Amino acid sequence: MSDAVVGLDIGTSRIRAVIGEISDTGVLQITGVGTSSSNGLRKGVVVNIENTVRSISQAVEAAEMMSGIEVSRCMIGIGGTHIDGLNSRGVVAVTGKGRDNREIGQDDITRVIDAAKAVVIPMDRQVLHVIPQSYIVDEQKGVKDPRNMIGVRLESEVHIVTGSVTSVQNMVKCVNRASLNVDEYMLHALAAVKSVMTEEERELGSILIDLGGGTTDVLIMADGAPLLTAVIPAGGIQVTNDISIVKGISVETAERIKLDTGCCWLPLIEENEEVILPGVGGRPPVVIPRSEIAEIIQPRMAEIFSMVMEKISSVSKKRQLSGNVILTGGGALLPGVVELASEIFNTQAVRMGIPGNFGGLTGEYRSPDYATVLGLVLSASERRRVLEGESGPSDTQSRPVITRIRGWLKEFF
Ligand SMILES: Nc1ncnc2c1ncn2[C@@H]1O[C@H](COP(=O)(O)OP(=O)(O)OP(=O)(O)O)[C@@H](O)[C@H]1O
Ligand SMILES: [Mg+2]
Repeated sequence: MSDAVVGLDIGTSRIRAVIGEISDTGVLQITGVGTSSSNGLRKGVVVNIENTVRSISQAVEAAEMMSGIEVSRCMIGIGGTHIDGLNSRGVVAVTGKGRDNREIGQDDITRVIDAAKAVVIPMDRQVLHVIPQSYIVDEQKGVKDPRNMIGVRLESEVHIVTGSVTSVQNMVKCVNRASLNVDEYMLHALAAVKSVMTEEERELGSILIDLGGGTTDVLIMADGAPLLTAVIPAGGIQVTNDISIVKGISVETAERIKLDTGCCWLPLIEENEEVILPGVGGRPPVVIPRSEIAEIIQPRMAEIFSMVMEKISSVSKKRQLSGNVILTGGGALLPGVVELASEIFNTQAVRMGIPGNFGGLTGEYRSPDYATVLGLVLSASERRRVLEGESGPSDTQSRPVITRIRGWLKEFF
């Protein structure tokens, strides 16, 4: 049981828990997956504690049942409209080890990251991640690891992710009330990057778009580090609501019709394809062309992608992004979504983000809507390995965690 690691993705539409076990050879094996429908969040933020606690418990219990082990700690994902990202710089003089030896040590790196972190952050917000992008040693730009280099002036460029203190606290509170301790948290999109984006894509400049129920998360990775984080307050729930309003049917029926017959690229639909809409208030069902549903979905999805385009424009003007646009989240399962994104982003380099190699994982979970939770469990296993490497397996539970996470996070990207 002590070798179990748990990822928990508390989404607006669904809550997903994944249990992994680390084998003697250090390989992560997925042994339990549990999901539940989420009823206590709005746009990624907890608005009803009781409902959220219940949904978390259901998902975790289902995962426990599958894996046959009980778990007590987890890594959670943090998302929602309160998330913000910014780039910052810090500069320090290298202290070095001696008067004539200006060799950069860990101490200088810690100081220069702290200097970059010293931006004014409002009292009601907290720093979730500080991820180094690159360093400048004297005039030398683009240094990935300045350790042991000789220099006088050390500058750092970092990406900082912040979130609302109370939103994070409410999320943690729900998890605690569901009888789990939170070891660490990670931005949803960063977790998804871990499970679906290749190293080459991260270097070349790629955009991860997580099409969730309540929000659409955007993360640009370039030169191996995050360059832009943004959360758009729109997602699949709006698409379902549009169908419900235009066709005068319940939200539940609209969701089913979207899942069964939805499409967001009209050229994919054949002329004779039809959809049966159930009758409301005793009226008989009606048969409509499938294209009528697509005509409702496509403009909303196009609007979401246009909002993404607007968010990334400041970066894409300055830095060429030669990697891929990668779509994850439940919305990535919508037929035609790759075609629509290709048109709006004006590139053929669009693909669905399907989580890669996870031992023990069956095909049904190798799906873009599991990208975040699988990234979380993978991160939890890597974190465990780092902690065990430092201290041996026996006391990983009792040591203070947060102080050691910085180095661990740095190895991620
Ligand atoms: N096969 C499918 N076709 C179309 N849409 C789908 C499909 N499967 C799921 N969705 C949509 O994806 C959305 C849920 O995606 P996901 O599970 O990634 O969201 P979430 O993580 O719960 O929400 P968020 O990340 O916004 O907090 C819902 O709106 C759902 O209708
Ligand atoms: Mg999500």
